[in-house]
Amino acid sequence: MSILIKTPEEIEHMRVACRLASEVLDYIAPHVQVGITTAELDRLCHDYMVNVQGTVPAPLHYAPPGYTPYPKSICTSLNHQICHGIPDERPLKKGDIVNLDITVITKAGFHGDTSRMFLVGETSIQARRLCEITFECLWLGIQTVRAGSFLGDIGAVIQKYAEKNGYSVVREFCGHGIGRKFHEDPQVLHYGKAGTGPQLKPGMIFTIEPMINAGKAAISALPDGWTIITRDRSLSAQWEHTILVTETGFEVLSLSAACPPAPAR
Ligand code: MF3
Ligand code: CO
Ligand code: CO
Repeated sequence: MSILIKTPEEIEHMRVACRLASEVLDYIAPHVQVGITTAELDRLCHDYMVNVQGTVPAPLHYAPPGYTPYPKSICTSLNHQICHGIPDERPLKKGDIVNLDITVITKAGFHGDTSRMFLVGETSIQARRLCEITFECLWLGIQTVRAGSFLGDIGAVIQKYAEKNGYSVVREFCGHGIGRKFHEDPQVLHYGKAGTGPQLKPGMIFTIEPMINAGKAAISALPDGWTIITRDRSLSAQWEHTILVTETGFEVLSLSAACPPAPAR
């Protein structure tokens, strides 16, 4: 495993890419309402990326080894869908929870990757709590990051907090290094042991994107070749930021005007 150290110029390009990804979420947030379809959310985001930002949606036609090309421009993972949900023509219903995952490629060739949960109308208290605890998991992971900390510290705090709250951590999907490529080393696990794995160095850039299930951790894959769901059909939530390791700590690159602030603690 070799983790790239980004140059100051590359870091500046990544600041731009990640802010743009987060701004797509700012743009789409008011549209996430009862009655809209996830395909319409996809079309709106696609047009915003291409026509307003001049970015390219990284998911569109993305085809890692063993996968069919991804058919849409964003991922929309609804209720018991964990990740990689494909936008379709079903309207959102009151009480749904949905993750919108945006990855843009800038003209300079850099990727920015971020996702948020959205509550559709009034949701159950349990659904809202899952989304809130998952958001706290993300930030607890982020707050371990500094030069000299261990990659395993991130997963350790996330797993501990999720399980303390009665939830489980998805094992099969993880955060990732990111830059000129969508998915680079390292793999950022959302479970594990503190003090294990590589030590972080300034200039490393990776995502943290915990997927937390209300029920058991086991997953199933839908026949569409992409959508991952909870095997027990329990609700699942995910939040994602792209993070730069700095000398003194971390810089969250995927921030924007309307992005939810770190939890108060
Ligand atoms: N954005 C996802 C991630 O956080 C990856 C989506 S791959 C796609 O890594 F092809 F489904 F878009
Ligand atoms: Co993502
Ligand atoms: Co990601």
